[in-house]
Amino acid sequence: MRKFSPITSTASNQARMSSTKSPFELKPKYADFKKVQASRPDFDSTLPITYTKNPDPDWKYGKGSSDSSSLEKGHVEIDPYKDGRPMISNYKLLVSGVPRPVSFVSTVSKNGTRNLAPFSYFQVVDHDPPIFVIGFSGRAERPKDTMRNLVETGECVISVVSEHMIEAVNATSLDVPFGQSEWEFSGMHPASSSTVKAERVKEAVFSVEGKLLEMKDLDYGHAKLGKPFGSLAIIQATRFWVREDALGEKGEEIDLSVMRPLVQLGGIQYGRVRETFELPRPSLANELAAKSSGLERFLKEKEQALP
Ligand SMILES: Cc1cc2nc3c(=O)[nH]c(=O)nc-3n(C[C@H](O)[C@H](O)[C@H](O)COP(=O)(O)O)c2cc1C
Repeated sequence: MRKFSPITSTASNQARMSSTKSPFELKPKYADFKKVQASRPDFDSTLPITYTKNPDPDWKYGKGSSDSSSLEKGHVEIDPYKDGRPMISNYKLLVSGVPRPVSFVSTVSKNGTRNLAPFSYFQVVDHDPPIFVIGFSGRAERPKDTMRNLVETGECVISVVSEHMIEAVNATSLDVPFGQSEWEFSGMHPASSSTVKAERVKEAVFSVEGKLLEMKDLDYGHAKLGKPFGSLAIIQATRFWVREDALGEKGEEIDLSVMRPLVQLGGIQYGRVRETFELPRPSLANELAAKSSGLERFLKEKEQALP
């Protein structure tokens, strides 16, 4: 396990902070967002979770996609580092091309100041041990407070953001100075954790206490160029907290109708998970046993393919 030292003492971080101007400037998407917002229907939190069939219930092996339009269209090749392409264009492209769950991360500084902030470069990447990752974008001025706290204390609570929390979550993305807590102005309520000092967000349906395994600098040449670079936190879960009415009887599943997770679809665009379908995972033995599946003719040797 890595030893935690104040982040400002590392050589790589001195490089991270050597540049002074942030290349990350987000211009507002709309000249008058209030006007755009006023033209849209109200958010309906009472809408149920619905199920449909999967897109192509008659799909057979070899059939490919159920929509051939991508085959008919050309594709535009983009070099992320093409001369004159601003970094912000890659940000906009990636966040609109890769839908992400939003994490709400609670940390405490080594001096005891509490911090809350959202991060959607976020995923669970394995369950045994349960491992989560969070990506911190590099910035010239100073590392994100969450990242600094994680490195200094090695602890956090990650909550998965549900619909009912999003405005408060968004507010905590304000870049307030280090040492200023976001808890009070977000209006969220803390609840005590068991294995880490940081408190969890009581309003969250699903929270995870975690310990930092590794903070990996994503410096693949940026420091040499005097450019800020990001970091990847690898976190092992030490406790799960699930709202009681969301947890299935066996303590295994979280009810989507209570959880109501959001996905981030762009810089300011979010999606709800409301309309769902189910698609059982195929097993090789069953697919080969069912002649009608049509899989057999794609495999070289049926006997070898059987597990
Ligand atoms: C929905 C949402 C998702 C975000 N995801 C990330 C992210 O994945 N990585 C990142 O570095 N910043 C992300 N941000 C920006 C941070 O939340 C913001 O820089 C914040 O001020 C960091 O707080 P901290 O300095 O207290 O840690 C996101 C902001 C929002 C609103």
